[in-house]
Amino acid sequence: MKKIDVLVIGSGVAGLTLAIKMAERHPDKKVCVLTKTHKEESNTRYAQGGVAAVWNFETDSFEKHIADTLDAGDDLCDKNAVEIVITEGPKRVKELIEWGTRFDKNIQQYDLGREGGHSENRVLHYKDLTGWEIQRALNEKAQSYPNLEYYDHYFAIDLITQHHLGRQVTRLTPDVKCFGAYVLNSRNKEIETFLSKVTVIATGGAGQVYKTTTNPSIATGDGMAMAYRAMARMENMEFVQFHPTSLFNPAIENPAFLVSEAVRGFGAILKTPEGDEFMEKYDPRKSLAPRDIVARAIDNEMKMRGQDFMSLDCRHLEKDAFIAHFPTIYEKCISLGIDPMKDLIPVVPAAHYICGGVKTNEMGRTSVKNLYACGECSCTGLHGANRLASNSLLEGLVFAERIVQDISQCIDSVKFQNGISDWDATGTTDPKELVLITQSIKELKEIMSSYVGIVRTNIRAKRAFARLHLLYQETERLYTSTTISPQLCELRNLITVAYLITKSAAMRKESRGLHFTTDFPHKYPFLEMTLM
Ligand code: FAD
Ligand code: SIN
Repeated sequence: MKKIDVLVIGSGVAGLTLAIKMAERHPDKKVCVLTKTHKEESNTRYAQGGVAAVWNFETDSFEKHIADTLDAGDDLCDKNAVEIVITEGPKRVKELIEWGTRFDKNIQQYDLGREGGHSENRVLHYKDLTGWEIQRALNEKAQSYPNLEYYDHYFAIDLITQHHLGRQVTRLTPDVKCFGAYVLNSRNKEIETFLSKVTVIATGGAGQVYKTTTNPSIATGDGMAMAYRAMARMENMEFVQFHPTSLFNPAIENPAFLVSEAVRGFGAILKTPEGDEFMEKYDPRKSLAPRDIVARAIDNEMKMRGQDFMSLDCRHLEKDAFIAHFPTIYEKCISLGIDPMKDLIPVVPAAHYICGGVKTNEMGRTSVKNLYACGECSCTGLHGANRLASNSLLEGLVFAERIVQDISQCIDSVKFQNGISDWDATGTTDPKELVLITQSIKELKEIMSSYVGIVRTNIRAKRAFARLHLLYQETERLYTSTTISPQLCELRNLITVAYLITKSAAMRKESRGLHFTTDFPHKYPFLEMTLM
Protein backbone atom coordinates (compact mmCIF):
# COMPACT_ATOMS: atom_id res chain seq x y z
CA MET A 1 0.00 0.00 0.00
CA LYS A 2 1.42 3.38 -1.05
CA LYS A 3 0.62 6.60 0.78
CA ILE A 4 0.60 9.72 -1.40
CA ASP A 5 -0.41 13.28 -0.52
CA VAL A 6 -1.65 14.16 -4.00
CA LEU A 7 -2.44 11.40 -6.48
CA VAL A 8 -2.75 12.62 -10.08
CA ILE A 9 -4.19 10.14 -12.56
CA GLY A 10 -3.09 11.19 -16.05
CA SER A 11 -0.03 12.85 -17.54
CA GLY A 12 -1.37 15.10 -20.29
CA VAL A 13 -1.38 18.90 -20.11
CA ALA A 14 -3.82 18.93 -17.18
CA GLY A 15 -2.22 16.27 -14.97
CA LEU A 16 1.40 17.24 -15.51
CA THR A 17 0.85 21.00 -15.11
CA LEU A 18 -0.93 20.37 -11.86
CA ALA A 19 1.65 17.90 -10.56
CA ILE A 20 4.56 20.24 -11.38
CA LYS A 21 2.93 23.18 -9.60
CA MET A 22 2.01 21.09 -6.58
CA ALA A 23 5.51 19.60 -6.30
CA GLU A 24 7.12 23.02 -6.68
CA ARG A 25 4.97 24.80 -4.09
CA HIS A 26 4.96 21.95 -1.56
CA PRO A 27 8.38 20.26 -1.43
CA ASP A 28 7.24 18.46 1.75
CA LYS A 29 4.32 16.76 -0.01
CA LYS A 30 4.55 13.62 -2.05
CA VAL A 31 2.96 14.01 -5.48
CA CYS A 32 2.45 11.00 -7.69
CA VAL A 33 1.47 10.91 -11.38
CA LEU A 34 0.07 7.74 -12.93
CA THR A 35 -0.11 7.15 -16.64
CA LYS A 36 -1.54 4.06 -18.20
CA THR A 37 0.93 3.60 -21.06
CA HIS A 38 4.16 5.47 -21.74
CA LYS A 39 4.86 9.02 -20.61
CA GLU A 40 4.51 10.65 -24.00
CA GLU A 41 1.09 9.23 -24.90
CA SER A 42 -1.97 11.44 -24.37
CA ASN A 43 -4.49 13.46 -26.34
CA THR A 44 -2.29 16.44 -25.53
CA ARG A 45 0.55 15.05 -27.61
CA TYR A 46 -1.61 15.11 -30.78
CA ALA A 47 -2.87 18.70 -30.49
CA GLN A 48 -2.10 20.52 -33.71
CA GLY A 49 -3.79 23.93 -33.92
CA GLY A 50 -2.53 25.38 -30.64
CA VAL A 51 -3.56 27.25 -27.51
CA ALA A 52 -6.08 30.10 -27.81
CA ALA A 53 -5.25 33.09 -25.61
CA VAL A 54 -5.62 36.84 -25.93
CA TRP A 55 -2.11 37.94 -26.77
CA ASN A 56 -2.23 41.05 -28.92
CA PHE A 57 -4.25 43.57 -26.92
CA GLU A 58 -4.11 46.10 -29.78
CA THR A 59 -6.40 44.01 -31.96
CA ASP A 60 -7.89 41.50 -29.54
CA SER A 61 -9.54 41.66 -26.10
CA PHE A 62 -10.84 39.38 -23.35
CA GLU A 63 -14.34 40.53 -24.27
CA LYS A 64 -13.95 39.24 -27.83
CA HIS A 65 -12.55 35.86 -26.78
CA ILE A 66 -15.32 35.52 -24.17
CA ALA A 67 -17.99 36.41 -26.76
CA ASP A 68 -16.60 33.84 -29.25
CA THR A 69 -16.54 31.12 -26.55
CA LEU A 70 -20.11 31.88 -25.46
CA ASP A 71 -21.29 31.97 -29.06
CA ALA A 72 -19.74 28.56 -29.86
CA GLY A 73 -21.19 27.13 -26.62
CA ASP A 74 -24.72 27.89 -27.85
CA ASP A 75 -26.03 29.45 -24.60
CA LEU A 76 -24.99 26.57 -22.40
CA CYS A 77 -21.63 27.86 -21.12
CA ASP A 78 -21.18 28.87 -17.52
CA LYS A 79 -20.29 32.55 -17.99
CA ASN A 80 -18.20 32.62 -14.82
CA ALA A 81 -16.10 29.66 -15.98
CA VAL A 82 -15.62 31.32 -19.37
CA GLU A 83 -14.44 34.57 -17.81
CA ILE A 84 -12.06 32.72 -15.51
CA VAL A 85 -10.42 30.73 -18.29
CA ILE A 86 -10.15 33.56 -20.80
CA THR A 87 -8.81 36.18 -18.38
CA GLU A 88 -6.40 33.89 -16.52
CA GLY A 89 -5.32 32.09 -19.70
CA PRO A 90 -2.51 34.38 -20.91
CA LYS A 91 -0.72 34.17 -17.52
CA ARG A 92 -0.82 30.38 -17.66
CA VAL A 93 0.50 30.32 -21.23
CA LYS A 94 3.38 32.60 -20.17
CA GLU A 95 4.28 30.06 -17.47
CA LEU A 96 4.31 27.33 -20.08
CA ILE A 97 6.75 29.40 -22.12
CA GLU A 98 8.93 29.98 -19.03
CA TRP A 99 9.02 26.21 -18.57
CA GLY A 100 10.55 25.81 -22.01
CA THR A 101 7.61 25.43 -24.40
CA ARG A 102 8.35 26.89 -27.84
CA PHE A 103 5.70 28.69 -29.92
CA ASP A 104 6.32 29.92 -33.47
CA LYS A 105 7.32 33.54 -33.91
CA ASN A 106 7.13 36.09 -36.72
CA ILE A 107 10.44 37.93 -36.37
CA GLN A 108 9.84 39.10 -32.76
CA GLN A 109 6.18 38.50 -32.06
CA TYR A 110 4.30 35.27 -31.66
CA ASP A 111 2.66 34.09 -34.88
CA LEU A 112 -1.02 33.94 -33.95
CA GLY A 113 -3.15 31.51 -35.94
CA ARG A 114 -6.90 31.48 -36.45
CA GLU A 115 -9.49 28.71 -36.22
CA GLY A 116 -13.24 28.28 -36.67
CA GLY A 117 -15.44 30.48 -34.46
CA HIS A 118 -12.61 32.88 -33.50
CA SER A 119 -13.13 36.50 -34.49
CA GLU A 120 -9.38 37.25 -34.15
CA ASN A 121 -6.02 35.57 -34.67
CA ARG A 122 -5.16 34.35 -31.18
CA VAL A 123 -3.89 30.77 -31.41
CA LEU A 124 -0.29 30.23 -30.28
CA HIS A 125 1.19 27.19 -31.96
CA TYR A 126 4.36 25.28 -32.67
CA LYS A 127 4.09 24.35 -36.38
CA ASP A 128 1.34 21.69 -36.46
CA LEU A 129 2.91 19.92 -33.48
CA THR A 130 1.81 22.15 -30.60
CA GLY A 131 0.71 19.32 -28.33
CA TRP A 132 3.87 17.34 -28.91
CA GLU A 133 5.91 20.40 -27.91
CA ILE A 134 3.86 21.04 -24.76
CA GLN A 135 4.05 17.38 -23.71
CA ARG A 136 7.83 17.41 -24.26
CA ALA A 137 8.35 20.53 -22.17
CA LEU A 138 6.13 19.29 -19.35
CA ASN A 139 7.76 15.84 -19.24
CA GLU A 140 11.19 17.46 -18.99
CA LYS A 141 10.09 19.88 -16.30
CA ALA A 142 8.41 17.14 -14.24
CA GLN A 143 11.72 15.30 -13.94
CA SER A 144 13.27 18.05 -11.83
CA TYR A 145 11.25 17.49 -8.63
CA PRO A 146 12.39 14.88 -6.09
CA ASN A 147 8.91 14.84 -4.52
CA LEU A 148 7.18 14.10 -7.85
CA GLU A 149 7.01 10.39 -8.65
CA TYR A 150 6.01 9.33 -12.13
CA TYR A 151 4.58 5.82 -12.66
CA ASP A 152 4.15 4.79 -16.27
CA HIS A 153 2.22 1.65 -17.31
CA TYR A 154 0.11 2.04 -14.18
CA PHE A 155 -3.57 1.71 -15.01
CA ALA A 156 -6.07 3.16 -12.51
CA ILE A 157 -8.98 0.75 -12.17
CA ASP A 158 -11.25 2.35 -9.61
CA LEU A 159 -11.43 5.16 -7.09
CA ILE A 160 -11.64 4.12 -3.45
CA THR A 161 -14.63 5.45 -1.48
CA GLN A 162 -16.67 4.43 1.60
CA HIS A 163 -18.02 1.64 -0.61
CA HIS A 164 -14.66 -0.09 -0.09
CA LEU A 165 -15.15 0.13 3.68
CA GLY A 166 -18.32 -1.93 3.30
CA ARG A 167 -20.73 1.01 3.51
CA GLN A 168 -23.58 1.48 1.10
CA VAL A 169 -23.00 4.43 -1.20
CA THR A 170 -25.67 5.65 -3.63
CA ARG A 171 -26.11 8.72 -5.84
CA LEU A 172 -28.06 10.27 -2.98
CA THR A 173 -25.34 9.74 -0.35
CA PRO A 174 -24.37 13.32 0.53
CA ASP A 175 -20.78 12.91 1.74
CA VAL A 176 -19.06 10.46 -0.59
CA LYS A 177 -15.29 10.75 -0.09
CA CYS A 178 -12.37 9.59 -2.18
CA PHE A 179 -9.47 7.86 -0.40
CA GLY A 180 -7.27 7.03 -3.40
CA ALA A 181 -7.36 4.43 -6.16
CA TYR A 182 -6.75 0.79 -7.00
CA VAL A 183 -4.15 0.65 -9.73
CA LEU A 184 -2.97 -2.16 -12.00
CA ASN A 185 0.77 -2.32 -12.58
CA SER A 186 0.57 -3.47 -16.21
CA ARG A 187 4.15 -4.77 -16.17
CA ASN A 188 3.80 -7.32 -13.34
CA LYS A 189 -0.04 -7.47 -13.40
CA GLU A 190 -0.29 -6.75 -9.66
CA ILE A 191 -3.03 -4.49 -8.34
CA GLU A 192 -1.67 -1.91 -5.90
CA THR A 193 -3.50 0.34 -3.46
CA PHE A 194 -2.61 4.04 -3.71
CA LEU A 195 -4.00 5.75 -0.62
CA SER A 196 -4.13 9.51 -1.04
CA LYS A 197 -5.26 12.58 0.81
CA VAL A 198 -6.39 14.18 -2.43
CA THR A 199 -6.95 12.58 -5.84
CA VAL A 200 -7.11 14.35 -9.18
CA ILE A 201 -8.46 12.67 -12.28
CA ALA A 202 -6.86 14.10 -15.41
CA THR A 203 -7.50 11.13 -17.66
CA GLY A 204 -8.52 12.96 -20.82
CA GLY A 205 -11.26 12.16 -23.31
CA ALA A 206 -13.23 9.25 -24.70
CA GLY A 207 -13.01 9.43 -28.50
CA GLN A 208 -12.48 5.67 -28.66
CA VAL A 209 -16.21 5.25 -28.04
CA TYR A 210 -16.55 5.91 -31.80
CA LYS A 211 -15.25 4.06 -34.86
CA THR A 212 -13.55 7.07 -36.44
CA THR A 213 -11.76 9.30 -33.98
CA THR A 214 -8.76 11.60 -33.85
CA ASN A 215 -8.08 10.44 -30.27
CA PRO A 216 -5.33 7.93 -29.55
CA SER A 217 -6.13 4.52 -28.11
CA ILE A 218 -5.71 5.73 -24.50
CA ALA A 219 -8.84 7.91 -24.82
CA THR A 220 -11.31 5.43 -23.36
CA GLY A 221 -13.04 7.65 -20.81
CA ASP A 222 -11.54 5.82 -17.81
CA GLY A 223 -11.64 8.79 -15.44
CA MET A 224 -15.22 9.68 -16.30
CA ALA A 225 -16.34 6.08 -15.81
CA MET A 226 -14.40 5.73 -12.52
CA ALA A 227 -15.86 8.97 -11.21
CA TYR A 228 -19.38 7.95 -12.23
CA ARG A 229 -18.95 4.61 -10.41
CA ALA A 230 -17.76 6.61 -7.39
CA MET A 231 -21.09 8.51 -7.58
CA ALA A 232 -19.65 11.80 -8.88
CA ARG A 233 -22.05 14.08 -10.75
CA MET A 234 -21.65 14.17 -14.52
CA GLU A 235 -22.78 16.86 -16.91
CA ASN A 236 -23.29 17.59 -20.63
CA MET A 237 -22.22 14.13 -21.81
CA GLU A 238 -24.37 14.39 -24.96
CA PHE A 239 -22.09 17.07 -26.41
CA VAL A 240 -19.52 15.09 -28.36
CA GLN A 241 -17.50 17.22 -30.74
CA PHE A 242 -16.81 15.78 -34.18
CA HIS A 243 -13.88 17.47 -35.86
CA PRO A 244 -14.94 18.32 -39.42
CA THR A 245 -11.67 17.46 -41.12
CA SER A 246 -9.90 14.23 -40.34
CA LEU A 247 -8.01 12.85 -43.32
CA PHE A 248 -10.13 10.33 -45.22
CA ASN A 249 -8.19 7.11 -45.60
CA PRO A 250 -10.02 4.07 -47.02
CA ALA A 251 -7.64 1.87 -44.99
CA ILE A 252 -9.26 3.15 -41.76
CA GLU A 253 -6.63 4.40 -39.29
CA ASN A 254 -7.02 4.48 -35.52
CA PRO A 255 -6.56 7.27 -34.62
CA ALA A 256 -7.69 9.10 -37.72
CA PHE A 257 -5.13 11.69 -38.80
CA LEU A 258 -6.25 15.26 -38.17
CA VAL A 259 -6.08 18.02 -40.75
CA SER A 260 -6.02 20.97 -38.36
CA GLU A 261 -8.66 23.65 -38.44
CA ALA A 262 -5.68 26.01 -38.57
CA VAL A 263 -5.35 24.94 -42.22
CA ARG A 264 -8.74 26.55 -42.90
CA GLY A 265 -7.60 29.47 -40.74
CA PHE A 266 -4.67 29.74 -43.14
CA GLY A 267 -7.04 30.02 -46.12
CA ALA A 268 -7.99 26.47 -47.18
CA ILE A 269 -11.57 26.10 -48.43
CA LEU A 270 -14.04 23.25 -48.03
CA LYS A 271 -15.35 21.94 -51.33
CA THR A 272 -17.14 18.92 -52.74
CA PRO A 273 -14.89 16.27 -54.35
CA GLU A 274 -15.89 17.88 -57.68
CA GLY A 275 -14.41 21.19 -56.48
CA ASP A 276 -17.58 23.20 -55.68
CA GLU A 277 -17.89 25.31 -52.53
CA PHE A 278 -20.89 24.42 -50.33
CA MET A 279 -20.44 26.06 -46.92
CA GLU A 280 -22.28 29.28 -47.86
CA LYS A 281 -25.52 27.23 -47.71
CA TYR A 282 -24.92 26.60 -44.01
CA ASP A 283 -23.27 29.63 -42.42
CA PRO A 284 -22.03 33.08 -43.53
CA ARG A 285 -18.65 32.27 -41.93
CA LYS A 286 -18.35 29.43 -44.46
CA SER A 287 -15.27 27.21 -43.90
CA LEU A 288 -14.51 29.00 -40.62
CA ALA A 289 -17.90 28.55 -38.97
CA PRO A 290 -17.83 26.81 -35.55
CA ARG A 291 -17.17 23.09 -35.63
CA ASP A 292 -20.64 21.78 -34.93
CA ILE A 293 -21.97 23.64 -37.97
CA VAL A 294 -19.12 22.60 -40.29
CA ALA A 295 -19.17 18.93 -39.20
CA ARG A 296 -22.95 18.71 -39.71
CA ALA A 297 -22.67 20.44 -43.08
CA ILE A 298 -20.04 17.94 -44.27
CA ASP A 299 -22.05 15.01 -42.91
CA ASN A 300 -25.17 16.30 -44.69
CA GLU A 301 -23.37 16.83 -48.02
CA MET A 302 -21.84 13.33 -47.83
CA LYS A 303 -25.26 11.78 -47.18
CA MET A 304 -27.10 13.85 -49.81
CA ARG A 305 -24.50 13.14 -52.48
CA GLY A 306 -23.77 9.53 -51.43
CA GLN A 307 -20.06 10.33 -51.14
CA ASP A 308 -17.52 9.03 -48.62
CA PHE A 309 -15.76 12.36 -48.07
CA MET A 310 -15.70 16.08 -48.83
CA SER A 311 -12.52 17.96 -49.76
CA LEU A 312 -10.22 20.68 -48.58
CA ASP A 313 -8.71 22.91 -51.22
CA CYS A 314 -5.21 24.24 -50.39
CA ARG A 315 -4.03 24.56 -53.98
CA HIS A 316 -4.15 28.36 -53.97
CA LEU A 317 -1.95 28.64 -50.86
CA GLU A 318 1.74 29.49 -50.98
CA LYS A 319 3.71 26.23 -50.93
CA ASP A 320 6.69 27.20 -48.76
CA ALA A 321 4.53 28.94 -46.17
CA PHE A 322 2.15 25.95 -46.09
CA ILE A 323 4.99 23.49 -45.53
CA ALA A 324 6.55 25.72 -42.85
CA HIS A 325 3.25 25.90 -40.94
CA PHE A 326 2.00 22.37 -41.49
CA PRO A 327 4.99 20.08 -42.09
CA THR A 328 3.35 17.01 -40.54
CA ILE A 329 0.10 17.41 -42.45
CA TYR A 330 1.99 17.98 -45.70
CA GLU A 331 4.16 14.89 -45.19
CA LYS A 332 1.21 12.73 -44.22
CA CYS A 333 -0.70 13.72 -47.36
CA ILE A 334 2.33 13.11 -49.56
CA SER A 335 2.79 9.66 -47.96
CA LEU A 336 -0.74 8.80 -49.16
CA GLY A 337 -0.11 10.10 -52.67
CA ILE A 338 -1.99 13.39 -52.13
CA ASP A 339 -0.09 16.57 -52.97
CA PRO A 340 -1.92 19.40 -51.13
CA MET A 341 -0.56 21.91 -53.64
CA LYS A 342 -2.04 20.01 -56.60
CA ASP A 343 -4.82 17.78 -55.23
CA LEU A 344 -7.89 18.28 -53.07
CA ILE A 345 -7.42 16.71 -49.62
CA PRO A 346 -10.24 14.23 -48.82
CA VAL A 347 -11.70 14.83 -45.35
CA VAL A 348 -14.39 13.34 -43.09
CA PRO A 349 -15.68 14.26 -39.62
CA ALA A 350 -14.27 12.23 -36.71
CA ALA A 351 -15.08 12.10 -32.99
CA HIS A 352 -12.63 14.50 -31.43
CA TYR A 353 -13.55 15.92 -28.03
CA ILE A 354 -16.12 15.42 -25.29
CA CYS A 355 -17.46 18.68 -23.86
CA GLY A 356 -19.16 16.98 -20.93
CA GLY A 357 -17.56 15.08 -18.10
CA VAL A 358 -17.22 15.10 -14.34
CA LYS A 359 -18.98 18.22 -13.07
CA THR A 360 -16.63 20.56 -11.22
CA ASN A 361 -16.93 23.89 -9.49
CA GLU A 362 -14.73 26.91 -10.21
CA MET A 363 -11.86 25.39 -8.18
CA GLY A 364 -12.03 22.03 -9.95
CA ARG A 365 -13.76 20.19 -7.09
CA THR A 366 -16.14 17.37 -8.01
CA SER A 367 -19.20 16.40 -5.98
CA VAL A 368 -17.04 13.72 -4.26
CA LYS A 369 -14.96 15.03 -1.38
CA ASN A 370 -11.17 15.16 -1.91
CA LEU A 371 -11.66 14.34 -5.59
CA TYR A 372 -10.85 16.90 -8.30
CA ALA A 373 -11.16 16.64 -12.09
CA CYS A 374 -8.99 18.57 -14.53
CA GLY A 375 -8.79 18.77 -18.32
CA GLU A 376 -10.93 16.97 -20.85
CA CYS A 377 -12.46 14.53 -18.33
CA SER A 378 -14.00 17.45 -16.43
CA CYS A 379 -16.99 19.64 -17.18
CA THR A 380 -16.13 23.08 -15.86
CA GLY A 381 -18.83 24.90 -17.83
CA LEU A 382 -16.35 26.49 -20.25
CA HIS A 383 -17.49 24.71 -23.39
CA GLY A 384 -21.26 24.54 -22.95
CA ALA A 385 -22.81 22.77 -25.93
CA ASN A 386 -19.78 23.12 -28.22
CA ARG A 387 -16.10 23.83 -27.54
CA LEU A 388 -14.40 26.70 -29.31
CA ALA A 389 -11.27 25.45 -31.11
CA SER A 390 -8.03 25.50 -29.09
CA ASN A 391 -9.79 26.33 -25.81
CA SER A 392 -9.14 22.95 -24.20
CA LEU A 393 -5.38 23.12 -23.65
CA LEU A 394 -6.07 26.52 -22.11
CA GLU A 395 -8.77 25.10 -19.83
CA GLY A 396 -6.37 22.41 -18.57
CA LEU A 397 -3.71 25.01 -17.78
CA VAL A 398 -6.07 27.39 -15.97
CA PHE A 399 -7.84 24.79 -13.86
CA ALA A 400 -4.57 23.05 -12.96
CA GLU A 401 -3.52 26.28 -11.24
CA ARG A 402 -6.89 26.71 -9.51
CA ILE A 403 -6.90 23.14 -8.24
CA VAL A 404 -3.39 23.53 -6.82
CA GLN A 405 -4.54 26.69 -5.01
CA ASP A 406 -7.54 24.84 -3.59
CA ILE A 407 -5.55 21.77 -2.53
CA SER A 408 -2.95 24.03 -0.88
CA GLN A 409 -5.67 25.46 1.36
CA CYS A 410 -7.06 22.14 2.55
CA ILE A 411 -4.47 19.39 2.33
CA ASP A 412 -3.08 19.78 5.85
CA SER A 413 -6.49 19.08 7.34
CA VAL A 414 -6.96 15.81 5.40
CA LYS A 415 -5.87 12.46 6.93
CA PHE A 416 -5.22 9.16 5.20
CA GLN A 417 -8.18 6.78 5.61
CA ASN A 418 -7.64 3.70 7.76
CA GLY A 419 -9.18 0.30 7.11
CA ILE A 420 -8.92 0.17 3.32
CA SER A 421 -8.29 -3.41 2.18
CA ASP A 422 -6.11 -4.41 -0.71
CA TRP A 423 -7.79 -5.55 -3.95
CA ASP A 424 -9.36 -8.99 -3.65
CA ALA A 425 -8.94 -11.06 -6.80
CA THR A 426 -10.00 -14.43 -5.36
CA GLY A 427 -12.18 -16.55 -7.61
CA THR A 428 -11.01 -14.93 -10.86
CA THR A 429 -9.07 -16.69 -13.60
CA ASP A 430 -7.08 -15.55 -16.63
CA PRO A 431 -9.28 -14.82 -19.67
CA LYS A 432 -9.22 -17.67 -22.17
CA GLU A 433 -10.61 -15.81 -25.16
CA LEU A 434 -9.53 -12.20 -25.64
CA VAL A 435 -11.90 -12.02 -28.63
CA LEU A 436 -14.71 -11.62 -26.09
CA ILE A 437 -13.22 -8.21 -25.27
CA THR A 438 -11.98 -7.08 -28.69
CA GLN A 439 -15.23 -7.97 -30.47
CA SER A 440 -17.30 -6.17 -27.84
CA ILE A 441 -15.22 -3.02 -28.34
CA LYS A 442 -15.83 -3.20 -32.10
CA GLU A 443 -19.57 -3.64 -31.53
CA LEU A 444 -19.67 -0.71 -29.13
CA LYS A 445 -18.00 1.57 -31.66
CA GLU A 446 -20.47 0.47 -34.37
CA ILE A 447 -23.43 1.12 -32.09
CA MET A 448 -22.29 4.59 -31.11
CA SER A 449 -21.24 5.62 -34.63
CA SER A 450 -24.50 4.44 -36.20
CA TYR A 451 -26.97 5.49 -33.52
CA VAL A 452 -25.49 8.30 -31.40
CA GLY A 453 -23.25 10.14 -33.87
CA ILE A 454 -23.52 13.58 -35.46
CA VAL A 455 -27.25 13.28 -36.18
CA ARG A 456 -29.48 11.54 -33.64
CA THR A 457 -33.09 10.35 -33.35
CA ASN A 458 -35.22 8.83 -30.57
CA ILE A 459 -35.44 5.48 -32.30
CA ARG A 460 -31.67 5.30 -32.75
CA ALA A 461 -31.13 6.12 -29.07
CA LYS A 462 -33.56 3.35 -28.09
CA ARG A 463 -31.66 0.85 -30.22
CA ALA A 464 -28.36 1.99 -28.78
CA PHE A 465 -29.66 1.44 -25.22
CA ALA A 466 -30.81 -2.10 -25.99
CA ARG A 467 -27.49 -3.06 -27.58
CA LEU A 468 -25.42 -1.35 -24.89
CA HIS A 469 -27.38 -3.13 -22.17
CA LEU A 470 -26.48 -6.49 -23.65
CA LEU A 471 -22.80 -5.53 -23.86
CA TYR A 472 -22.97 -4.28 -20.26
CA GLN A 473 -24.37 -7.56 -18.95
CA GLU A 474 -21.84 -9.68 -20.82
CA THR A 475 -18.95 -7.49 -19.71
CA GLU A 476 -19.96 -7.41 -16.03
CA ARG A 477 -20.07 -11.23 -16.07
CA LEU A 478 -16.57 -11.25 -17.52
CA TYR A 479 -15.35 -8.63 -15.05
CA THR A 480 -16.42 -10.58 -11.97
CA SER A 481 -14.95 -13.87 -13.15
CA THR A 482 -11.75 -12.83 -14.97
CA THR A 483 -8.37 -11.49 -13.93
CA ILE A 484 -8.29 -7.73 -14.43
CA SER A 485 -6.56 -6.44 -17.57
CA PRO A 486 -6.34 -2.93 -19.07
CA GLN A 487 -8.36 -4.13 -22.09
CA LEU A 488 -11.21 -5.41 -19.93
CA CYS A 489 -11.25 -2.23 -17.83
CA GLU A 490 -11.26 -0.10 -20.97
CA LEU A 491 -14.19 -2.02 -22.42
CA ARG A 492 -16.09 -1.56 -19.17
CA ASN A 493 -15.30 2.16 -19.10
CA LEU A 494 -16.22 2.64 -22.75
CA ILE A 495 -19.61 1.03 -22.12
CA THR A 496 -20.22 3.37 -19.17
CA VAL A 497 -19.29 6.45 -21.18
CA ALA A 498 -21.37 5.27 -24.17
CA TYR A 499 -24.31 4.79 -21.82
CA LEU A 500 -23.87 8.29 -20.36
CA ILE A 501 -23.67 9.88 -23.82
CA THR A 502 -26.77 8.00 -25.00
CA LYS A 503 -28.75 8.70 -21.84
CA SER A 504 -27.93 12.41 -21.91
CA ALA A 505 -28.73 12.58 -25.63
CA ALA A 506 -32.09 10.91 -25.07
CA MET A 507 -32.88 13.31 -22.22
CA ARG A 508 -32.20 16.45 -24.24
CA LYS A 509 -35.44 17.17 -26.09
CA GLU A 510 -34.01 19.86 -28.37
CA SER A 511 -31.15 20.43 -30.80
CA ARG A 512 -28.36 22.60 -29.47
CA GLY A 513 -24.67 22.92 -30.21
CA LEU A 514 -23.20 19.51 -30.89
CA HIS A 515 -26.43 17.65 -30.09
CA PHE A 516 -28.67 17.46 -33.14
CA THR A 517 -31.78 15.28 -33.23
CA THR A 518 -34.25 15.23 -36.09
CA ASP A 519 -37.04 14.55 -33.56
CA PHE A 520 -36.46 17.95 -31.92
CA PRO A 521 -34.69 20.04 -34.57
CA HIS A 522 -34.97 23.36 -32.71
CA LYS A 523 -33.35 24.92 -29.70
CA TYR A 524 -35.49 25.74 -26.67
CA PRO A 525 -34.40 28.87 -24.82
CA PHE A 526 -34.71 27.74 -21.21
CA LEU A 527 -34.09 24.02 -21.22
CA GLU A 528 -32.23 22.92 -18.08
CA MET A 529 -28.76 21.40 -18.27
CA THR A 530 -28.55 17.64 -17.82
CA LEU A 531 -27.11 16.53 -14.50
CA MET A 532 -26.57 12.86 -13.78
P1 FAD B 1 -4.79 13.86 -22.08
O1 FAD B 1 -3.79 14.70 -22.71
O2 FAD B 1 -5.56 12.94 -22.95
O3 FAD B 1 -4.06 12.98 -20.98
C1 FAD B 1 -4.76 11.93 -20.35
C2 FAD B 1 -3.76 11.13 -19.55
O4 FAD B 1 -4.46 10.23 -18.69
C3 FAD B 1 -2.83 10.26 -20.38
O5 FAD B 1 -1.56 10.37 -19.82
C4 FAD B 1 -3.38 8.85 -20.17
O6 FAD B 1 -2.40 7.84 -20.26
C5 FAD B 1 -3.87 8.96 -18.75
N1 FAD B 1 -4.89 7.98 -18.39
C6 FAD B 1 -6.10 7.80 -18.95
N2 FAD B 1 -6.75 6.79 -18.32
C7 FAD B 1 -5.92 6.34 -17.35
C8 FAD B 1 -6.02 5.31 -16.39
N3 FAD B 1 -7.08 4.51 -16.30
N4 FAD B 1 -4.97 5.12 -15.55
C9 FAD B 1 -3.84 5.89 -15.63
N5 FAD B 1 -3.71 6.87 -16.54
C10 FAD B 1 -4.74 7.09 -17.38
N6 FAD B 1 -7.01 21.19 -28.00
C11 FAD B 1 -6.59 22.47 -28.11
O7 FAD B 1 -6.82 23.28 -27.21
N7 FAD B 1 -5.87 22.84 -29.20
C12 FAD B 1 -5.56 21.99 -30.21
O8 FAD B 1 -4.90 22.36 -31.16
C13 FAD B 1 -6.03 20.65 -30.12
N8 FAD B 1 -5.78 19.78 -31.11
C14 FAD B 1 -6.13 18.47 -30.94
C15 FAD B 1 -5.79 17.54 -31.91
C16 FAD B 1 -6.05 16.20 -31.72
C17 FAD B 1 -5.68 15.21 -32.78
C18 FAD B 1 -6.72 15.78 -30.54
C19 FAD B 1 -7.02 14.34 -30.31
C20 FAD B 1 -7.10 16.70 -29.58
C21 FAD B 1 -6.82 18.05 -29.77
N9 FAD B 1 -7.17 19.00 -28.82
C22 FAD B 1 -6.74 20.28 -28.96
C23 FAD B 1 -7.80 18.60 -27.58
C24 FAD B 1 -6.74 18.54 -26.49
O9 FAD B 1 -5.57 17.98 -27.02
C25 FAD B 1 -7.19 17.70 -25.31
O10 FAD B 1 -8.48 18.06 -24.92
C26 FAD B 1 -6.26 17.91 -24.14
O11 FAD B 1 -4.94 17.69 -24.53
C27 FAD B 1 -6.63 16.97 -23.02
O12 FAD B 1 -5.63 17.05 -22.04
P2 FAD B 1 -5.81 16.20 -20.72
O13 FAD B 1 -4.59 16.46 -19.91
O14 FAD B 1 -7.12 16.45 -20.13
O15 FAD B 1 -5.83 14.68 -21.21
C1 SIN C 1 -7.21 21.52 -34.72
O1 SIN C 1 -6.01 21.77 -34.84
O2 SIN C 1 -8.02 21.62 -35.64
C2 SIN C 1 -7.71 21.05 -33.40
C3 SIN C 1 -7.90 22.19 -32.50
C4 SIN C 1 -8.75 21.80 -31.34
O3 SIN C 1 -9.30 20.70 -31.28
O4 SIN C 1 -8.91 22.64 -30.44
